[in-house]
Amino acid sequence: MPKERISRIVVLTGAGISAESGIPVFRGADGLWQGHRVEDVATAEAVAFNRPVVNDFFNKRRREVEKVAPNSAHRALVEWEQACGDDFLLVTQNIDPLHERAGSHNLIHMHGELQRIRCDSCGESAPFFADALAQTLCPVCGRAGGLRPDVVLFGEMPMRMEEVFMALSACDLFVAIGTSGAVYPAAGFVDLANQAGAYTVEINAAETERSPTFHERLTGRAGEVVPDFVASCFKL
Ligand code: APR
Repeated sequence: MPKERISRIVVLTGAGISAESGIPVFRGADGLWQGHRVEDVATAEAVAFNRPVVNDFFNKRRREVEKVAPNSAHRALVEWEQACGDDFLLVTQNIDPLHERAGSHNLIHMHGELQRIRCDSCGESAPFFADALAQTLCPVCGRAGGLRPDVVLFGEMPMRMEEVFMALSACDLFVAIGTSGAVYPAAGFVDLANQAGAYTVEINAAETERSPTFHERLTGRAGEVVPDFVASCFKL
């Protein structure tokens, strides 16, 4: 880690940070995506042709996150934000609510949020904590049949990318935690940060496809490594 003062920080998180809270990661050894074929449950085509299957898959995920609690890695990122204020941006690919449950504020959910629903009839999105069924009415327009999870499916554009790219182009530290680097554009954030002259750090339980691109790699479970890493940054 460079000894000069780090002032602008971007942190990217993926499924690995929530694994120790009991939420399974996406890419299992069986090649399935949380036990399903991606194209059946998480693509724009699946919404168009098989909406109930998509809603059913995300209803289950929504129920799973009702009782899960943030872990020490989520909490360490809150402390870091509190120390840095607006110079700290947390970008998560996770659709679970654990970062905000821990207390993070300066947070972008680039792949959307499980606890929101979108309506194809009115185009609006709203907080949502129940199951979306065929007869469920849109909380905004009151119509049934058009609801879908407010998450970014394969084939769709991630959210708030302009803000993320701006922050990356101006950061001097970029940290990727618990992400396999298999999905773009998030997998390319390290390249943008490197181009901006930032110091780049990967924290992961295992080596990833993108590991060679980072200046520094810390191998281990996020719940153990992240609090120590954040504490070491406070000492700089
Ligand atoms: N601590 C740190 N890293 C961990 C831990 C842990 N306790 N457990 C697992 N990991 C790492 C794995 O080594 C792996 O590199 O977390 C990563 C999880 O990878 P993925 O399952 O591919 O999740 P992610 O990178 O978030 O996926 C990106 O792909 O499927 C889409 O939209 C979905 O947001 C998701 C995106």
